[in-house]
Amino acid sequence: MKSARVNGESNDLEFRIKLPDGSIKWMLSKSDIFFDGENIPSRMIGVNIDITDRKNLEHQKDVFIGIASHELRTPVTSLKLFSNIIINQARLEQKEQVLKSAQIIKSQTDRLMRLVDDLLDVSKIQAGKLELNYQLFDVPEFVDSIISETKHFTQSHKIVYKPGDLEKITGDKERIGQVIMNLISNAIKYSPRADCIIIKTKQKGEWAIIEVQDFGIGIPKEEQGKIFDRFFRTTDAKDKNISGFGLGLFISSEIVRRHGGELKVKSTQGKGSTFYFSIPLKQGHSDE
Ligand SMILES: Nc1ncnc2c1ncn2[C@@H]1O[C@H](COP(=O)(O)OP(=O)(O)O)[C@@H](O)[C@H]1O
Ligand SMILES: [Mg+2]
Repeated sequence: MKSARVNGESNDLEFRIKLPDGSIKWMLSKSDIFFDGENIPSRMIGVNIDITDRKNLEHQKDVFIGIASHELRTPVTSLKLFSNIIINQARLEQKEQVLKSAQIIKSQTDRLMRLVDDLLDVSKIQAGKLELNYQLFDVPEFVDSIISETKHFTQSHKIVYKPGDLEKITGDKERIGQVIMNLISNAIKYSPRADCIIIKTKQKGEWAIIEVQDFGIGIPKEEQGKIFDRFFRTTDAKDKNISGFGLGLFISSEIVRRHGGELKVKSTQGKGSTFYFSIPLKQGHSDE
């Protein structure tokens, strides 16, 4: 209400009410403020909408995603294990056709595993159960180790690392690694015609800044605000048939936010994108 008065914009508010019989209803209140000739708010017109059904459905969807991803993990893990066994056996017996088929099963299983893990993370985030384990670690050393891991899945791009003055930070090393890996794999995936990706780490006051730059398809201005939403993918990414589920940036921005920092993007369509995030050098005060 206060912000609507200041900005003169329409105001949406979701809240819960308890009815006399004890049941809970979710309401959406939409209102518009009208100003008189001297720009003083004079009237407010609005509606209250019962959105309980929509809220319940959303909750059921979150529960379903949680259960389904949890249940899928066990069969996918055994698929992965057994496809590895078949690959080794086929190599030993020099059975080319079996080897090829098993390698396809393995790479598709890896893809499925990534989706299941992402869905599990999403359901943890929705339930407020994403836990962080803080430790002090050396950033340049860690970034180097991530870059050497990427060599397994890209021959097309050269990853150039420019370490600045940033040394150690305190954070969840594994989760921050997941963010960096997500940004690098996006940078590779969304720059099919380029051959270089630049990573920079630096210190700015009390903050560590980590950035990943590519020279790829870029993101149009009007879509830049949406790419951190769950399941959102740009029209360009879909038109160009680049595979993905639209979860990596949602998870990454949540990981960074939970550290007390922010994940942002600067991008020009057709020229490339720079994703960068901040993490406070010292933790302890910002985690909820
Ligand atoms: N480096 C990038 N260059 C261009 N577009 C990007 C880049 N990174 C992300 N995007 C856009 O943001 C969307 C969401 O990214 P993400 O959550 O990682 O999902 P996914 O990669 O699975 O599609 C992508 O589908 C793509 O449209
Ligand atoms: Mg991605």
